[in-house]
Amino acid sequence: MTNAASAASPSVTGAARSELASALASCRSAFVGIAVFSGLINLLALTGSLFMLEVYDRVLPSRSVPTLVGLAIITALLFLFQGLMEITRGRMLVRIGNQIDWRLSDRIYDLVVRLPLRARGSGDGLQPVRDLDTIRSVLSGSGPAALFDLPWLPFYLAICFAFHSLIGLTALGGALVLVMLTVLTDRLSRQSVQKASSYAAARNRLADSSRRNAEVLVSMGMSARLLARWRKLGVAYRGQQQIANDVSGGFGVTGRILRMMLQSAVLAVGAYLVIHQEASGGIIIASSILTGRALAPVDLAIGNWKNFISARQSWQRLEKLLALLPAPAAQLLLPAPVHSLSVEKLSVPAPASEKVLVADVSFHLKAGSALGVIGASASGKSSLVRALVGAWRPSRGAVRLDGATIEQWSPDALGEHIGYLPQDVELFEGSIAENIARFAPDPPTESVLAAANAAGVHQLIVNLPEGYNTQIGEQGALLSAGQKQRVALARALYGNPFLVVLDEPNSNLDAEGEDALTKAILGVRAREGIVVVVAHRSSALVAVDYMMTMTQGRQQAFGPKEEVLARLARREPAPLAPLKVVPQNAV
Ligand SMILES: Nc1ncnc2c1ncn2[C@@H]1O[C@H](COP(=O)(O)OP(=O)(O)OP(=O)(O)O)[C@@H](O)[C@H]1O
Ligand SMILES: [Mg+2]
Repeated sequence: MTNAASAASPSVTGAARSELASALASCRSAFVGIAVFSGLINLLALTGSLFMLEVYDRVLPSRSVPTLVGLAIITALLFLFQGLMEITRGRMLVRIGNQIDWRLSDRIYDLVVRLPLRARGSGDGLQPVRDLDTIRSVLSGSGPAALFDLPWLPFYLAICFAFHSLIGLTALGGALVLVMLTVLTDRLSRQSVQKASSYAAARNRLADSSRRNAEVLVSMGMSARLLARWRKLGVAYRGQQQIANDVSGGFGVTGRILRMMLQSAVLAVGAYLVIHQEASGGIIIASSILTGRALAPVDLAIGNWKNFISARQSWQRLEKLLALLPAPAAQLLLPAPVHSLSVEKLSVPAPASEKVLVADVSFHLKAGSALGVIGASASGKSSLVRALVGAWRPSRGAVRLDGATIEQWSPDALGEHIGYLPQDVELFEGSIAENIARFAPDPPTESVLAAANAAGVHQLIVNLPEGYNTQIGEQGALLSAGQKQRVALARALYGNPFLVVLDEPNSNLDAEGEDALTKAILGVRAREGIVVVVAHRSSALVAVDYMMTMTQGRQQAFGPKEEVLARLARREPAPLAPLKVVPQNAV
């Protein structure tokens, strides 16, 4: 496993050990313990053979029952001891798996959350979670124990040689064939395991997006067509799985049969030696059992090979992702921003892409002001605000709060100073109060109420049957689009953040909701915060004092609202003509 890890991480230098490798290294003493246990287990595994040898060569010729009883008792105790050790070893491996999972699971969650914002994902978004599960379950299974037994193979072979060189050679020949089988299993199933896992990811993506778009699928009769895609992916997935299973299963059985054949072969060689009086009768049986035991881990390993390969591939994928998104360094705590937002020559690319969506945007806002951003569809408004709230990283330029670039804040600390209402609102499973309080543990009631009041959504919430405790299902299923948007506005205002960024906050609002929005913006300005609001409809711009227009990712005009509106009016007869017209009450 460690070899696979180091081979998989060419980008990770020797000095800075990868997170996975150090998680594994943290279990070093447990691994040493397992190695010691494996040594003892393998020594104890000689018990059966030695008993056989003694019975044949000592008890039977002497016909001594007391010797037999004595030997039997000792043997039984040794077997018991071996059993206990194997149980302990198995438990230690399970705990190592859990320890690694425990050490990494926070980082894996972090990967799942940040990956879509930083990298182009190849899996279905949850791949890292499954990869960690795979590593843990393979570590906890019977495979690794077999790997710890394998190094003892030469020891058993040496004993076979000690019995007689012919017996040793027979066992050695068998061992070589089995090792070749292992290598072949690896070669032949590696690719199909990898393909199977990428088909599985594609299938999961399809299932997930179908589930999210259930209404569209059903209402437009698209489910049959997507079902066809699902089937196709299923066929491909199962096909690759089948190849991997066939290879692994086929070689597994071949290995087992070969091992049994080898045991009989050793028996035959032993018989030959006895006939020629070169060995005792006990040796035949003892060496036959010994050979079987020596090679058992090999066929266990072959049988487990598919799991090893998936664990190795999971490991490699995680190594790459963890190196791509290193854990954020601990940041110095900065004072809360109170003065300004400056954007300097900001260029924003799409995540993990060269394509620049926003170029060269610069503006400066003082506390107490609000900026309205307008522009045609796809002019880069949402991309700009994603960079303002730190969700997307700029490729050039900077966003500064009181002079410090937002990267200088740790994401959690920055989050307290930012309120963000995205264009596509999604709420989390939980109560309305929890959603407004951003899932803070034990949020002060007055803060939740203050946010609801600031967003003008208190009355709407108390009119719901369970008020603030109303549980919203996944994707806020219980609320209408307008209600969701207003609850999300309250969430953005929770804790009086300095910078409040609203991306088309009124797209689903009625007149009352728009009034509430205007009041909310004025409220933030009154408490010396800053608001940036993207809007297609001028109603959202009543409360702003600055305006910016965007075209094709560039800033066209920026200035006090009246000035910009006047400039627009001069250039075009209808100032908001290029804007998308969204009818009131549109959903
Ligand atoms: N995640 C993304 N990856 C790659 N390109 C993207 C992504 N999101 C948006 N874009 C592209 O960025 C451009 C600007 O999109 P953006 O969402 O910023 O426009 P917008 O001005 O907010 O439009 P609208 O008014 O329709 O909301 C579009 O051409 C779009 O295709
Ligand atoms: Mg947008």
